[in-house]
Amino acid sequence: MKGPVVIHKGLDNVYVKESTICFIDGEASKLFYRGYSIEDLAAQSTFEETAFLLIRGHLPTKQELVDFNRRILLNRPLEPGLMQLIRSFPLTSDPMDVLRTAVSALALYDPAPITDKIDGRVDKAIRILSKAPTIIAAFDRLRNRKEPIPPRSDLSLAADFLQMLTGEAPDRYDAHVMDVAMILHAEHEMNASTFSCTVTASTQADMYSIITSGIGTLRGPLHGGANEAALRTVMEVGDPSNAEDYVTRALSEGRRIMGFGHRIYKTWDPRYVILKKLGAELASQKGETKLFETAVAIEQSALKHLAGSSVFPNVDSYSGIVFHTLGIPVDLFTPVFAMSRIAGWTAHSIEYLESNRLIRPKALYVGPPSLPYTPIGARAG
Ligand code: ACO
Repeated sequence: MKGPVVIHKGLDNVYVKESTICFIDGEASKLFYRGYSIEDLAAQSTFEETAFLLIRGHLPTKQELVDFNRRILLNRPLEPGLMQLIRSFPLTSDPMDVLRTAVSALALYDPAPITDKIDGRVDKAIRILSKAPTIIAAFDRLRNRKEPIPPRSDLSLAADFLQMLTGEAPDRYDAHVMDVAMILHAEHEMNASTFSCTVTASTQADMYSIITSGIGTLRGPLHGGANEAALRTVMEVGDPSNAEDYVTRALSEGRRIMGFGHRIYKTWDPRYVILKKLGAELASQKGETKLFETAVAIEQSALKHLAGSSVFPNVDSYSGIVFHTLGIPVDLFTPVFAMSRIAGWTAHSIEYLESNRLIRPKALYVGPPSLPYTPIGARAG
């Protein structure tokens, strides 16, 4: 072995590939997809166009976008066998387990799930991206003892998700907010779940296995699960007047404030800035301002207590409030995050495979050296 072993616990600052997909400047509060700022994309793009940009690498022409939208539309319905499978799940299942299992099962309904061609991988990416909202909405209907609602061809992916969930097409503003929320969650460089996808991709596994890995990793409360935890905190705090007490107690007990802190952002998460504005507009439009005001009070108190540290609000501090105000149940927040992030996961997997190298790090062995084997009858106890 050459030189001392350096352990990169958490892989902080370890680069695993070159990429043209996403750039984050965590000191300057900047996020770009393929060179376009998140602010411009949120203001002017659509989720479908952003997904094309991430997966294909450039903004689509009119015709490319028409074709991409058509492929998404055609792929939205679920195969009867898959719907049957979802119907067989326990109604108490966690929706993230349902999404992970259903995405994995999608491979069974693909006559050729494995492909080494870029176009083939893009086909699989579109198939999974299009069906994920249908899977999540269908399961939510079933667990509420309602029939799933089929996708509609006149709605965007974001609006159709709300339609399949609630039974009503959203108004233009709600559809716009959902679309922007999906754009903001579509991609975020080499985070834990994207790394999982990249590891699986590096073995040349199929796209269904890749995305199933990502969904499993996104699930944890330190990653995708933080949006649920953040909203539950706001609900528990209940009123702006309780915020200071809550934050003081949580921090003095060594607990973390959910929706705060980030491995890369050491200042404002630019997605937080956009979501907070949308959350404020949505709350006042619906006349439901209490939760939003409570979240603002928690934020102000946390910022005061954490002043001088590099812990700032992240995307999850207001995403939960936005999703909740749109009528999305709390345990669907992480699945909604996942259905948006499929764009980034597939883009990274396709990019990695263009110059693949199997990911195989090492673990430094610190256990006992060679031990004599003791037969079971001769062991103590
Ligand atoms: N509340 C209070 N203090 C915090 C928080 C927080 N949310 N986050 C970090 N800190 C403090 C830590 O206690 C630590 O303090 P210390 O140096 O005095 O011990 C310091 O900031 C650095 O913390 P680390 O854990 O080393 O920072 P890391 O880069 O690993 O943290 C993480 C990133 C895991 C996201 C963390 O901030 C956290 O647990 N946040 C809450 C969960 C959350 O909101 N996750 C969503 C992230 S965004 C996403 O995944 C979409």
